[in-house]
Amino acid sequence: METSLIRPSVLLNILKINLETSRIVMVRKVTYRPPGTEHNLLNEINLSLREKSFGLIFGRSGSGKTTLLQLLAGLSEPTSGSICIQKYDDSGNPIGLSEMLTSQRVGIVFQFPERYFLADTVLEEVTFGWPRQKADLLFKEQLAKNLQNALNLVGLTTISLDEDPQSLSGGFKRRLALAIQLVQTPDLLLLDEPLAGLDWKARADVVNLLKDLKKHHTILVVSHDLRELYPLVDRSWRMQMGGSLKEESLPV
Ligand SMILES: Nc1ncnc2c1ncn2[C@@H]1O[C@H](COP(=O)(O)OP(=O)(O)OP(=O)(O)O)[C@@H](O)[C@H]1O
Ligand SMILES: [Mg+2]
Repeated sequence: METSLIRPSVLLNILKINLETSRIVMVRKVTYRPPGTEHNLLNEINLSLREKSFGLIFGRSGSGKTTLLQLLAGLSEPTSGSICIQKYDDSGNPIGLSEMLTSQRVGIVFQFPERYFLADTVLEEVTFGWPRQKADLLFKEQLAKNLQNALNLVGLTTISLDEDPQSLSGGFKRRLALAIQLVQTPDLLLLDEPLAGLDWKARADVVNLLKDLKKHHTILVVSHDLRELYPLVDRSWRMQMGGSLKEESLPV
């Protein structure tokens, strides 16, 4: 006879699947000395950031903040140390071994990203570098879906995809730069000075956008604009001159 009761072993499996796991980006003892130079720019950097949280790195100009973002984005290699993602169960125990955080899993928006826009239309700008061969059709379909999601996420649905990126307002240019990175659905989103060079209205606009993005993404920001970003910040660090990082509350 059919029964609607779920067998205990099946129930256990369902519970296992639903158990909360979380992922943490871990930077362990990362040191960086540019090839052919005598001095370390970064010294034994340690940092960890839970998924869907917002980290902020602040500190004096020239202390090494952008250098660290470049390492996290895989644009240069640490001289020593590791950058990984580790999964944890809800009791805080690690699940399996940590995985390398590869450059494909990281999105980076540089300072003044609009300076690097190349295309004549928003669509070309977002799809720049997409595969052109027919064989990649499935992949392109996935990218197209991601593109729609990314445009929705950053609130760029009100503009035409035919528009010239350079004709957008300052705030909308930043939204576009974010959308380009979000298409790749990164595990970690890095932003270097996201508010720099914007007027007060666009700054407020970008702060609100980051507040929304934080619901779905793990974000690490380098900024001098501590007061405006303060409400979003879960963890913060000061980069000290000489390239050492220290966890510290924001001095606001
Ligand atoms: N490839 C390199 N070789 C040697 N020195 C470098 C290299 N890249 C950066 N530097 C130096 O490393 C230091 C840190 O630079 P970085 O751009 O990371 O600082 P920053 O904290 O981002 O500063 P800012 O707040 O002005 O953006 C600076 O003194 C810079 O001149
Ligand atoms: Mg910098």
